[in-house]
This record gives sequence, C-alpha cells and structure tokens, in this order.
Amino acid sequence: MGRCFSGGISIWVVFLISNLMMCGVVSGIGANWGTQASHPLPPDSVVSLLRQNGIQKVKLFDADYDTLTNLGKSGIEVMVGIPNDMLASLASSVKAAEKWVSKNVSAHISSNNVKIRYVAVGNEPFLETYNGSFLRTIFPALKNVQSALIKAGISNQVKVTVPQNADVYESSNGLPSGGDFRTEIHDLMLQIIKFLSDNGAPFTVNIYPFISLYIDANFPVDYAFFDGNASPITDGSLTYYNMFDANYDTLAWALQKNGFGNLPIIVGEIGWPTDGDQNANLVYAQKFNQGFMSHILSGRGTPMRPGPIDAYLFSLIDEDSKSIDPGNFERHWGIFTFDGIPKYQLNLGTTNSGSVVAAKGVHYLERKWCVMRPSASLDDPQVALSMSYACGLADCTSLGYGTSCGNLDARGNISYAFNSYYQMNNQLDVACKFPNLSMITKTNPSVGSCRFEIMIEPYYGGAGSERRLGILQRPLSLAAVLILVWQSIM
Ligand SMILES: *[C@@H]1O[C@H](CO)[C@@H](O)[C@H](O)[C@H]1NC(C)=O
Ligand SMILES: *[C@@H]1O[C@H](CO)[C@@H](O)[C@H](O)[C@H]1NC(C)=O
Ligand SMILES: *[C@@H]1O[C@H](CO)[C@@H](O)[C@H](O)[C@H]1NC(C)=O
Ligand SMILES: *[C@@H]1O[C@H](CO)[C@@H](O)[C@H](O)[C@H]1NC(C)=O
Repeated sequence: MGRCFSGGISIWVVFLISNLMMCGVVSGIGANWGTQASHPLPPDSVVSLLRQNGIQKVKLFDADYDTLTNLGKSGIEVMVGIPNDMLASLASSVKAAEKWVSKNVSAHISSNNVKIRYVAVGNEPFLETYNGSFLRTIFPALKNVQSALIKAGISNQVKVTVPQNADVYESSNGLPSGGDFRTEIHDLMLQIIKFLSDNGAPFTVNIYPFISLYIDANFPVDYAFFDGNASPITDGSLTYYNMFDANYDTLAWALQKNGFGNLPIIVGEIGWPTDGDQNANLVYAQKFNQGFMSHILSGRGTPMRPGPIDAYLFSLIDEDSKSIDPGNFERHWGIFTFDGIPKYQLNLGTTNSGSVVAAKGVHYLERKWCVMRPSASLDDPQVALSMSYACGLADCTSLGYGTSCGNLDARGNISYAFNSYYQMNNQLDVACKFPNLSMITKTNPSVGSCRFEIMIEPYYGGAGSERRLGILQRPLSLAAVLILVWQSIM
C-alpha cells in the first residue's frame, strides 16, 4: 500500500504501475483460502479469482498439492499451513519436518516457482478449547520446521510463524498499555517469540471484533467498526477509535514490554461473517471489511505502530463443511459465496473496478431443487426426523433468528433443509427421497435474502480427492435410513 500511493515516486510512475498491474502487485492485502467445503471451487478458478481482484497474498491451512501447483507462476505470495494434528509428529522428528519441507515447500518452489514466503506452524494452538493439547508440541515442531528450512537452504526466503488467537494476550487495565501475554502461557510464548525474533520471523495474530460482539451483548457495536462513531478510548497520550487498533496495540505493548518491540506483526485473519447470527449480516460485514480496507489503504497504521499493516482477510470463500462449534456463523466468513460471487460491494484498492468481481466460468449442476411436497402434511411424523437428518448432514446455518432465511415459514424451513442435503449430494435422486415428503422442482424456491443454492460441479482433482469423495457415501446412508423408516411404518 505504502509503496503504491506514498509520495516521492513521480505521479507518472504510479500511473504506469496502476495501468500495468493495477497496483495489486505492491498491495498489502491478503486473503485466507480455506477448503473445508462440500463443493470447493476448483483451485484454478480460485487463483484467477485472486488475480482478477488483485489479491497478491494467500494464507492456506495446509499444503494441498493441487492448490500449490495452481499458485505456481501466479506471482501470488503464499503462506502454507501445518494443521495442528501434524504438530506431534513434526515435534518428535526432525526427519518428519525435513520431509514436510521437502515435499510441501522446496519441491513447489523449485519445480513450479510457487512464491512461498511463510510456513504457518499450527493454527491457534493455544486456543482454550484445545485444553492445552498442543502446548508440548508447538515449540519443538516450530524448531524442527525451521531447521528443515535451513537445511533446505531456503530459510532466507521462507519464514516460520505461528498464527495465534488474540486471546494469548490480555490487558491488566483494559487498555492497550496494559497488554501482556497470559500468565499460564507467558514463558512458552516468550520462548516462541524469541525464536521468531532470532530467525527474522513475524508474529501472526488473528483479531475478531465480531466474536467480541457475539460473546458479549453489551459490547459497544460502533467500537467494532471504523467509522469513528464510538466514544474514543484514551490510553496515556494515545487515542483509540476502534477495537482493531486497540487490540493490535495490546499485542504491540505486550511485545515491547518483553523486549520485542520491533518484532513484525502479521494479522493472519480478520473479517466479519454474513450469516448464521443476528450480527452476522451483509450490512455489518460490508461496513467492517470496507472500513478495515480503508484503514489499511490509508497506511496510517495504529497509534503504537504507525505505517503499513500486513493483513489477510478472513476469508475469501464460504466453507459449508466447517465445524459449527464456534457458532452457526462459522460457515459464512467469505467475501465471496461458495461459488465465487461477491456478497457485497468491497473496494480492496487493488484494481480499477471499484469493487471485487465474481469468479468466471463456474460450472453449476442442473437448475433444480428438492423441496417439501405441497400435499405433505406438517403433522407427518417423518417431518422432524427427515429435517434433523438433512440438517445434520447438510447445512442449515442460514435458518434461525436473524439469518438470511430466518423469515421462512415451517414449510420453507423444511424445503431449505431438504434442498441443502440434495445439493450437497450432487442432486442424486436418492437424496430427495424423504419418505412421502419431498419432490424435485425446477422453480427456484429462493425468496428475498434467502438463497436456495444450486451446487457447483464437484471437483475431484488433486490430493484432496479422497476426502471430498466422502460426501458421495452419504446417499447410501440416507437410503439405509429410509429403508428403516419405511420398514417401521409398514
Ligand atoms: C504435505 O502436506 C499435506 C497437506 O497438508 C500432508 O497431508 C502431507 O502429509 C505432507 N507431506 C509430508 C511429507 O509431510
Ligand atoms: C476439553 O475439556 C473439556 C472439559 O474437560 C471437554 O469437555 C472437552 O471435550 C475437551 N476438549 C478437547 C478438544 O479435548
Ligand atoms: C403420503 O402422504 C399422503 C398425503 O399426506 C397421505 O395421504 C398418505 O397416506 C401418505 N403415504 C404414506 C405411505 O405415508
Ligand atoms: C425454522 O427453523 C429455525 C431453525 O431451525 C427455527 O428457529 C424456526 O423457528 C423455524 N421456523 C418455523 C416457522 O418453523
């Protein structure tokens, strides 16, 4: 950003760069590309989506072969991820770490020119819900991966980092200046931070004002956004107008207090979901993400750390197979819907088009839906069973109070669940055979903000294919359940 718009460079140079590369090449904004979806967009479509929108950096949660192959020669910077469930094996064996680096980093750089810049070791390993499962493995795994990068001769271009939830630090006085790492993990955090610092690596933090609002109804809503409408908070000589700055600076203080005031900070995840909760909607998401982008584009930084902010939006695309343990909103973080359509106007400052644009050449399944038969009765005893079966295996997170389909009546609810199940199972006939209750229609049942989806053609390429084929086994189990249901009423 700074490099794009800062003074010093002649306006003509900026003009030329803008025309050639639309400034995207030097922009600071990245995006998280997760793939926990029943019907992920094929990686080549995602890479063109990133390029069309001038997104020059991606953060991945694993090192999927196909994904990395498609990022080759794209010029897009990549942070590859090591999932938490691999930490134990990488912690216990340098050899395992060397194999991981060789196959998942070195090979992609040398054979295909993938611009891998970071390895994210684990993902929020200190999260309280993990009950400390990764406390013993995270640091040894980090060290082994770093050794492997050195051995592979790529430690100058590829840096390690550990994406942390912002709950690893807290404030003793409720202000950024009171920031320090949580007492129970203080020593371990400092060992990790010293190691990152010694190796020229950044601290990565995920910051979520939405979650603050979600868990605390009294959280001042305006403070989550960037409009400057909240009452400012004064901390010594510094003033805070939004939660992001305050949270980021709480980390900056924590680092400074412990002797690492210059450690670079990356915002690994930041964003706002659009569905699944009353505060997860298009208006708030647009307001938050656009506000954040304008903040980034201004190059002002935060009171403690003026200057460019390095950040990855969370996230690029919706993922309908994510766990909903955190809440129903978890499947709706995308700037784009699962099929690559922008959900709202968003100017990333990276292209001349003024707003993000949709993925091209997306292949959909047929235009047909599974709905509740008009003649079926709501009193039919199979209704509840069928609905919970469908919702259990498909995605009903757009139903419920304050959601995009929250205004459907009981029949609408049931149809929504049936259709979700049918589409997730690639419109197989057997997936629309809820006993005497369902039928296939060619009339789009979508109403208002409630979209009855049609899935895209399943993508079977690459190393992830076995995992993705799993969904196809579900119609068999449905068939089994239906047989049981029929038997029980005969
Ligand atoms: C490379 O990464 C993939 C995806 O995360 C993983 O399944 C695989 O085990 C890794 N390869 C090695 C040799 O560790
Ligand atoms: C963490 O501990 C709680 C309470 O003991 C338990 O219910 C939960 O299943 C544990 N979670 C994990 C991931 O081990
Ligand atoms: C199917 O539904 C119709 C209309 O509600 C009902 O008359 C019929 O008995 C049902 N058949 C079975 C097998 O449940
Ligand atoms: C529709 O389903 C949602 C969530 O499953 C529920 O909260 C709501 O009450 C249902 N609406 C009707 C009219 O049944």
